[in-house]
Amino acid sequence: MGRNILITGGTTGIGYQLVRRLAQHHQLMVVGRAPNEQLIELEGLTNNVIIVKTDFNNPAKAAIDIDKAMKKAKWDILNNAILNAGTGFVCDPTQEEPAAIRETLNVNLLANIAISRMLKKRLIAGRGKITFIGSMARKGKENFASYAASKAGLHGLARALHWEWRGIVDVQILHLGPTKTQMHKKAGMKLGFSRHFFTSPEGMAAMIEKSIHKRRLSHNLTVFQDLAGSTFLSKGLK
Ligand SMILES: NC(=O)c1ccc[n+]([C@@H]2O[C@H](COP(=O)([O-])OP(=O)(O)OC[C@H]3O[C@@H](n4cnc5c(N)ncnc54)[C@H](OP(=O)(O)O)[C@@H]3O)[C@@H](O)[C@H]2O)c1
Repeated sequence: MGRNILITGGTTGIGYQLVRRLAQHHQLMVVGRAPNEQLIELEGLTNNVIIVKTDFNNPAKAAIDIDKAMKKAKWDILNNAILNAGTGFVCDPTQEEPAAIRETLNVNLLANIAISRMLKKRLIAGRGKITFIGSMARKGKENFASYAASKAGLHGLARALHWEWRGIVDVQILHLGPTKTQMHKKAGMKLGFSRHFFTSPEGMAAMIEKSIHKRRLSHNLTVFQDLAGSTFLSKGLK
């Protein structure tokens, strides 16, 4: 049935909305630390959702855990990988604790290096595509230095893999604009009225699904595209 799709950070926020969109038509492997109740229910109700619990703060182990889950599920081929898990902490960069810097780099960058490398054979077998979820903040954002650095690094990784894997695996990075998830609260960011202008996680998930078809290596997804109806006539992942 459908495609084999890996979604990291699928337990909440934008990733969870992607799971909701794609679960009806595809086999999903959903990765995160703390699956929400609806996701656990979805796994119980369908044969096509597998939850893998692992912590990306240990990138090498996270890649091994996903590899083991794929072997167990006999996923020799992978059609899409959406590497979406992300974290970050708002802080004056001169005050940020080393553990917080390490966690941001582990989750947003090093885990993605380890996982993309581990997935290569299966992606080749599935004529697959890997989509990294980046951020507009990669260009630099005050009090978000480690996060910006991790996403800028992710952009470099995607560009490198795009050249190295050309002709065998499609590679793309999507740079998201502000989206109404719990990420900002978890990061310690206080948002005022501006949150009302953020994209909804459902709208962002729709734009991500549609953007996967586009051939461009990197693509910005913002509230403006959402309002302009960017998903209206585009194809979904069928
Ligand atoms: N929201 C925005 O405004 C915005 C803007 C630009 C880019 N983005 C990017 O979009 C992606 C999704 O963010 P979101 O807004 O949906 O945030 P979110 O609601 O906080 O979701 C983050 C996801 O990442 C997973 N994750 C975080 N730390 C992890 C760890 N140590 N190990 C394993 N999984 C971990 C979480 O899983 P658990 O909860 O199970 O740990 C969760 O599923 C991220 O890459 C983020 O950088 C978001």
